[in-house]
Amino acid sequence: MSDIKRCDFLIIGAGLAGLSAALRLAEHGSVMVLSKDEPDLSNTAWAQGGIAAVWDPVDSVEGHVQDTLEAGAHLADPELLRDVLADGPQAVEDLIRWGVSFSKAADSEDFDLTREGGHQARRVLHAGDMTGAEIQRAMLAAVRAHPAIQLLAHHVAIDLVTRRKVARHAAKRRLGIIGPRLDVSIRYGPGGPEGWQPGQGDRCLGAYALDVENGRVMVFAARATVLATGGAGKVYRYTSNPDVATGDGLAMAYRAGAVIGNMEFVQFHPTCLFHPEAKSFLISEALRGEGGVLRLPDGRSFMDGVHPMASLAPRDIVAREIDARIKRHGLRNVLLDMTHLGADYLHRRFPGIHEVLKGLGIDMSVDPIPVVPAAHYFCGGVAVDREGRTRIEGLFAVGEVSCSGLHGANRLASNSLLEAAVFGGRAARSAVAAMTSFQADVEIPPWDSGEARDADELVVIEHTWDEIRRLMWNYVGIVRTDRRLNRALARIGLIKKEIQAYYWDFKVTRDLVELRNIALVAELVVRSALARRESRGLHYNLDCSARDDVNWRRMTTLRREW
Ligand code: SIN
Repeated sequence: MSDIKRCDFLIIGAGLAGLSAALRLAEHGSVMVLSKDEPDLSNTAWAQGGIAAVWDPVDSVEGHVQDTLEAGAHLADPELLRDVLADGPQAVEDLIRWGVSFSKAADSEDFDLTREGGHQARRVLHAGDMTGAEIQRAMLAAVRAHPAIQLLAHHVAIDLVTRRKVARHAAKRRLGIIGPRLDVSIRYGPGGPEGWQPGQGDRCLGAYALDVENGRVMVFAARATVLATGGAGKVYRYTSNPDVATGDGLAMAYRAGAVIGNMEFVQFHPTCLFHPEAKSFLISEALRGEGGVLRLPDGRSFMDGVHPMASLAPRDIVAREIDARIKRHGLRNVLLDMTHLGADYLHRRFPGIHEVLKGLGIDMSVDPIPVVPAAHYFCGGVAVDREGRTRIEGLFAVGEVSCSGLHGANRLASNSLLEAAVFGGRAARSAVAAMTSFQADVEIPPWDSGEARDADELVVIEHTWDEIRRLMWNYVGIVRTDRRLNRALARIGLIKKEIQAYYWDFKVTRDLVELRNIALVAELVVRSALARRESRGLHYNLDCSARDDVNWRRMTTLRREW
């Protein structure tokens, strides 16, 4: 069997962003979609709340723009928001055409529109409280039915292939060097999207990926490559994300020389279930949208004096207040009280959450729900322009892996599925244009594993992973200081060296690939957090606690330098 597979379009990741790009690209050429696990296991599939779009005639794009700007602490560009959010209704129409079924209002043919934190209007379309699962189901069915799309499960992308990488490989072979040289320096970019141009740095030719079932590393050669690998919640000890969220696309793009932006803005969802038997279970913000109230264990509500929207304030504000209360009062969790809304309504409106809670002995119509904040969403990522193009020619990034600037310093609830759908279409359009100008003039060498042998101490990987996640939680969490960030940076530097040595001694496995990626993503978060000398949105540093609109109303950018 050949270790090279060729296609016109390679898509890495099978959530909404990747699949919506795939369905559009399939009209223009052959498409391969790589999924690291089972394709129905993505961040999209775990989304509960819904997709925000201006649907109600009394709502307006300008209202959506203002709410997004306000939630994002005025870091986003209003013109970008007007451009992208105006495409929201069409993106929803496309999802419906692909088979997504959104919930209807009682006794009506109109869609039910819910509300979430930071939204001044009802504009979130949802499918009960399992919107992501419904979107994933419909999109996978549409993709599987398309003859031009091949969906490959259990394929773990390891690294992007670029012209530069191929040339370096050839030079090393001439010199008799086995395995790549360790090269991890970071250069701070000049800041702001104006600091780079799409396609100015190298050319992407595809990717190396591990076929987990047969243990072989394959070359996927493509005329255009779309990164849609989602976020990196697993960098933190507590997260609402599934196990696949290890920042693979972010790390690969950084290693290939793409610009990475705004990594300090990690969103902590205020309400994840606190229960010893529940791992990563989100209690959707839609519960607060429908009237849920946050309370201390003694029953006092505590958000009223903090923000005019009280329990429905933007997420950064609610998460920070819960964190402060937990620390101040020595609590393990706070409570989300839904008991005033009645069993019939709650069980009908939130069937998925009701089922999970019931299994744990909690009836939300009787008992307040114990909740804590947990890492939820990366607002930063691979810097893209309005068309989803990165700094590397032929490489596009869509969805949570990307940083389009839309979310600013804090994402407005349910804007992420919208971004994935809108940019899936835009990146597809750009990839078709890039494909026509592509000359396949470089032969990609097979993966070189040097003298690697089978790993003998898997426990090392587990321990190192655990160490990173704990230190990120303790030192790079909701409230930061320079001292804690520097401590984290020093420790991550050592861990990265250990991983690098281990990495080239042993054959690649999914665990090893993910470990290398989370270590790098952790470093990118810390470096970005140290670089931003102000507090804004999700980045709150006690050593520079004021917002600085004069110097810091811009993206922080990082780029690898050789
Ligand atoms: C939620 O349902 O609270 C999550 C929605 C989102 O993160 O946008």
